[in-house]
Amino acid sequence: MKLKLILASTLLAFGAAVHAAPMVIKYSHVVADMTPKGQAALKFKELVEAKLAGKVEVQVFPNSQLFGDGKELEALLLGDVQFIAPSLAKFGKYTKQLQVFDLPFLFDDIAAVDRFQASAAGQKLLSSMEKKGITGLGYLHNGMKQLSANKPLNVPADAAGLKFRIQPSDVLEAQFKSVGGNPQKLAFAEVYQALQTGVVDGTENPWSNIYSKKFFEVQKYIMDSNHGVLDYMVITNTGWWTGLPADVRAGLKEAMNESIAYGNKVAFIEAANYRDKVLAAKKAEVLPMSKADTAKWRAAMKPVWKRFEDEIGKDLIKAAQGANM
Ligand code: LMR
Repeated sequence: MKLKLILASTLLAFGAAVHAAPMVIKYSHVVADMTPKGQAALKFKELVEAKLAGKVEVQVFPNSQLFGDGKELEALLLGDVQFIAPSLAKFGKYTKQLQVFDLPFLFDDIAAVDRFQASAAGQKLLSSMEKKGITGLGYLHNGMKQLSANKPLNVPADAAGLKFRIQPSDVLEAQFKSVGGNPQKLAFAEVYQALQTGVVDGTENPWSNIYSKKFFEVQKYIMDSNHGVLDYMVITNTGWWTGLPADVRAGLKEAMNESIAYGNKVAFIEAANYRDKVLAAKKAEVLPMSKADTAKWRAAMKPVWKRFEDEIGKDLIKAAQGANM
């Protein structure tokens, strides 16, 4: 009897200990800690572990350490990671609507992107993948993209025959084809080496990625082209998310909103600093793109809009355009 009692109380204590162990949540991404996304993920960890102290622990994995961008969406659906924030160019398999963000020269600047994301049409897109088991929790900025290569890309003809690394987006493929380039879809973790070894000649990325991944070491020229946007959607697995205890979900959502606001602030404030740091490194030359030349790139790439109009939806493109002032 005594033994039974001891056994029962030991089991109870063990049960309580198991119960008390915090839930471990993984947030994986492919960029450096210093970038807007890297900073947002770290802020999320800090906030969650304060708001849900003892209940939830967040592990952040930057730099494709846990999953590269070829695998992270699959991993999310399998439940191997709980939060990821892929570039909006990486959702083609799950929805065609988000392709709107890849259309070249659609947004004048990141403030216009922000207005569109905050609009009813933009917010609706957060739930565009629910049927596939993906819930969008919010948009996160990185910034406008810059073209780079080992030769100046002043006018569209300069891109002819060059191999460009692109994210896995059919719109971006069409964008480079429209100027006679040869686009190649490559994972982000492979970009530096591909540029270094000449597997590709050029690419496009915002300043934070060009700086933190040292693309400026392996590209002679970077154009201030601002020809498109690279932003993210922070997503989670719908089944996992809806199955969470309500208080945990509410705490995570609040922390997510705050971490996104923080990351967006970093994106707005730091974009010029990342560019300055690339300039200071004096490895690549940063060239302006004149208004006249920008008009030539715009004209050359504009047919891409028409080509994807049916997939994306005319109204959505119009709504996005309406965010420019
Ligand atoms: C890229 O593949 O170039 C970007 O999507 C990487 C990132 O997450 O910023």
